[in-house]
Amino acid sequence: MNPFFRFINSSVGKKIVMSLSGLFLSIFLVEHLAGNLLLLKGDNGEAFNGYAKFMGGNPIVRTMEIGLLGLILLHIVNGIRIWWENRSAREKGYGAYKIQENTTLQSRMMKLSAALVLFFLTVHMRTFWVSARILGEHDIAAIVYAQFQHGVYVLFYLVSLTIVGYHLRHGFQSAFQTLGLRTKKYQSLIEFVSVLFWFVVPAGFAFIVLFIYFTGGSPVVSVQ
Ligand code: HEM
Repeated sequence: MNPFFRFINSSVGKKIVMSLSGLFLSIFLVEHLAGNLLLLKGDNGEAFNGYAKFMGGNPIVRTMEIGLLGLILLHIVNGIRIWWENRSAREKGYGAYKIQENTTLQSRMMKLSAALVLFFLTVHMRTFWVSARILGEHDIAAIVYAQFQHGVYVLFYLVSLTIVGYHLRHGFQSAFQTLGLRTKKYQSLIEFVSVLFWFVVPAGFAFIVLFIYFTGGSPVVSVQ
């Protein structure tokens, strides 16, 4: 086997792939949040629709979009492989070593949160991405504004965003550990960056959802 593939198929390699794909996906979230902030402009979604049209029509962005979907898939498949490997190792070495209770709980919570984030993403993509990219809807902002008028949908988003935050918080911790960056020297920088991703970004999305729910999305009324 090619040495590169041999490495990414090793236990350490799989963890590195998991960390790097997770970090890239987190960077996508920052771009996604920045684009979605256009929904708050109070222009009936004109700026947001212009942005969505650009994203949908630009070949470079479309190619990056395929990369993004590939990265999501890689993160999921790799996660399942790590889980499978750990499970087999535990079964084989049962009694030989004891994993700490809290580690087991944390890794269980990571799996549970991963499954819930995946469920959220499936609903999310079905609602917005399919409308924009598959059904060719032009007024995506109107779909977003309409969707967040439903209390149940808003609640679903708020709960999901909390779970996304949890997943990112622990994901960041283990990614920095895997990449050997969790040292004293970088401690405060790492804390700062990780809070930005696990708290500020999900809170930003939650703000958008609540803002639309309470204002309908277009609060600016032009006075003649
Ligand atoms: C206020 C909350 C959010 C809104 C209003 C929103 C809106 C949208 C819209 C309108 C699209 C499809 C159209 C387009 O790409 O232009 C989209 C795609 C997508 N969203 Fe969101 N989103 C939100 C939160 C999230 C969160 C929290 C995640 C991930 C945890 C996420 C992940 C994605 C992904 C992966 C895509 C497909 C991207 C692509 O292929 O271009 N979104 N979102």
